[in-house]
Amino acid sequence: MKTYLVTGGAGFIGSNFIHYMFRKYNDTIRIINVDALTYAGNLENLKSVEDRENYTFIKADITDSAAIAEIFDQNDVDYVVHFAAESHVDRSIKSPEVFIKTNVLGTAVMLNCARAAWENADGSYQEGKKFLHVSTDEVYGSLDEDGGYFYETTPYAPHSPYSASKASSDMLVKAYVDTYRFPANITNCSNNYGPYQFPEKLIPLIINNALHGRKLPVYGDGKNVRDWLYVDDHAKGIDMVIEKGRLGETYNIGGHNEKQNIEIIHIILDTLLEMLPEGDERRKLISRDLITYVEDRKGHDRRYAIAPDKIKSEIGWEPETMFKDGIKKTIAWFFEHEDWMANVTSGDYQKYYDDMYQNK
Ligand code: NAD
Ligand code: DAU
Repeated sequence: MKTYLVTGGAGFIGSNFIHYMFRKYNDTIRIINVDALTYAGNLENLKSVEDRENYTFIKADITDSAAIAEIFDQNDVDYVVHFAAESHVDRSIKSPEVFIKTNVLGTAVMLNCARAAWENADGSYQEGKKFLHVSTDEVYGSLDEDGGYFYETTPYAPHSPYSASKASSDMLVKAYVDTYRFPANITNCSNNYGPYQFPEKLIPLIINNALHGRKLPVYGDGKNVRDWLYVDDHAKGIDMVIEKGRLGETYNIGGHNEKQNIEIIHIILDTLLEMLPEGDERRKLISRDLITYVEDRKGHDRRYAIAPDKIKSEIGWEPETMFKDGIKKTIAWFFEHEDWMANVTSGDYQKYYDDMYQNK
């Protein structure tokens, strides 16, 4: 039975990955979820798996090398799937230091501890071990509106403190591969959406605000382009790279689904109106007049677009979920989990929202 050490498994993509893996492998794998439970980590995301005998949650900070070393000492970990990070660009612009600490130092700690646990005396590694570093397309910088894609060979050109910290963490992984022959893969994925996404990110924020008749903030001219991928397709890609990825390689993950932000907002409003039954009071709150153009994000990247040719040809990964279906599934999930949204938007969220949007 393989043991997966998942970091950041209580966050958006990590929790979806854990659900995906248990749906696929059921009792034939073991998952240890290590998460510090920052504002973005939520054990409610994992309620349905918490009683499984093959699942363990450990509250720990990835920058705490003693705590992480102890987890490796006490468990025979086969795969590390490293999601834990500070992930929101706007927060990184306001407070960069925690991004550098968690994303750079935290990754260094994970790499050191995995290496110490897996390396043999002669510098080779125990058979079958792998470190999968989950990264982002933002490390490649920004593309022109009229063309081009991010390939694995595209030079790194990060612009925000977030993407610079992720680029640094990628470089550390590459350095461990080159220096120590460390068994790792990196995946660089485009924007994810789906269940459990924290409503600081565009799609859940717009869904939540629209349902409450609140302003829908659009940064700049609303024409920045992101390449959206349903989160289960990302989880499937990570699983396939763990199984089939060549050691030391990087794989871009994305599904050629580019949309301008303003288009996304109109699609969400259309879909909400299509899905809410006649007579539902919330229909009266939903209006295009809520769309409010606000001050642009500093250093706002114009366009991201992934070329997924390598993962498709080498590994056979392709996205399965069309955006029109994924957005319906996402909205249906939010309708069924009103308590989840109410819980995560109580307390500190309101303070975050006021600080972030008051001058916009
Ligand atoms: P998220 O912010 O929803 O979750 C991050 C998780 O990491 C949380 O559970 C949090 O508690 C945990 N965490 C934060 N600091 C920690 C620390 N010091 N020690 C232990 N745990 C800590 O993030 P997400 O959107 O799920 O992203 C997960 C990963 O995927 C990140 O590495 C991110 O860079 C990458 N990624 C995200 C996207 C996207 O669209 N969201 C796309 C590509 C790549
Ligand atoms: O590309 C992958 C990245 O996608 C991940 O690495 C990041 O962790 C993830 O947060 C995401 O980054 P973005 O900055 O692209 O996502 P966000 O949802 O914050 O913003 C998407 C776009 O929408 C971006 O162009 C900014 C814009 N936006 C965002 C918010 C929150 C708005 O116009 N208004 C908003 O209120």
